[in-house]
Amino acid sequence: MNGSTGLLAKINHMNTTQVKADWTDNVPTTLAVENSKPIINEQQQKILIERIKHLLKEQNALLVAHYYTDPILQQLADESGGCVADSLEMARFGKASSAHKIVVAGVRFMGETAKILSPEKTIVIPDLDASCSLDLGCSAEQFIPFCDQHPEHTVVVYANTSAEVKARADWVVTSGIATKVVAHLASEGKKILWAPDRHLGKYIQSVTNADMLLWQGSCIVHDEFKADALLALKAKHADAKILVHPESSYTVIEMADVVGSTTQLINAVKSMKEQTFIVATDNRIFYKMQQAAPNKKLIEAPTGGVGANCTMCAHCSWMAMNTLQGILDVLENDKNHIHIAEAIRLKAFASTQKLLDFAATCPS
Ligand code: 13P
Ligand code: SF4
Repeated sequence: MNGSTGLLAKINHMNTTQVKADWTDNVPTTLAVENSKPIINEQQQKILIERIKHLLKEQNALLVAHYYTDPILQQLADESGGCVADSLEMARFGKASSAHKIVVAGVRFMGETAKILSPEKTIVIPDLDASCSLDLGCSAEQFIPFCDQHPEHTVVVYANTSAEVKARADWVVTSGIATKVVAHLASEGKKILWAPDRHLGKYIQSVTNADMLLWQGSCIVHDEFKADALLALKAKHADAKILVHPESSYTVIEMADVVGSTTQLINAVKSMKEQTFIVATDNRIFYKMQQAAPNKKLIEAPTGGVGANCTMCAHCSWMAMNTLQGILDVLENDKNHIHIAEAIRLKAFASTQKLLDFAATCPS
């Protein structure tokens, strides 16, 4: 702790902090998250940003942010020498840097991946409750016995899982490289046990024809994109290309011109000659897409189908838990460290390192 703890307190005091209602306690809806955030004005934002930049330097720390975080955090990560990236690149960047501390603006599994790869570094995240429905829907207690029941399968898990689940896996993959890894394993005659995202699993199966047993998890954000509403939107924008993250349902994936990870979708906007894109992923990615291709038109894919009387917004509520105040808090008060038991970390490292080694041998 130091005197600057007062800065956050002062800024918070300048606002009417809205108290989270009881019923929202375990409901990570965007509404709940937005309501729990003190609203700060531009002047206060500037003060926080300058203080964070100063502390990052002073503590030899780096801010690494995911594309789904608030654009203000993405800008801060870029300006302060950190990076904005997908889940794989965030971990790689942290590992390669000489910083002592990495502030991971993302969700918990991203912080854990950084710790798995860089045990010697201090890894902190602005809110330890920032989770992911895929991670929550695949507990080690349920997953390990499931794997034990299928010993003839090679266990491949998505990066959106806990360190304990990664430790039970033979391979960890990210969406950008999953089809290549599974195609490689299938070519060796291996049967795959895939977890946790059933949509991504089905997509990989359709591309590779691999023999796959699928865990039935899903992403609550991408699950909301609906094919019928997308079809209606596409009819209004005949020239638009449809970009889809493979955590979306298969009916939405089938309509895509490009299916890919967050980085692959940004690259598609940049490299394709078309001017208009309908994008089925978290809408905070528009910040980097717009930077990469300033003159292109980006349209959010619809969430909520025909007949729905309420639509979700395409933004992950757990990602929304990352705030300037949270980042300042972890730097000022040295809190929210990610810890992983060494025996688990070593096993999770082995399955994650396979991904890095494989990625190094093939173009993304
Ligand atoms: P990427 O690996 O493409 O960054 O995706 C992570 C994620 O959580 C998508 O919902
Ligand atoms: Fe998890 Fe979906 Fe949020 Fe990504 S967008 S972190 S998969 S809940």
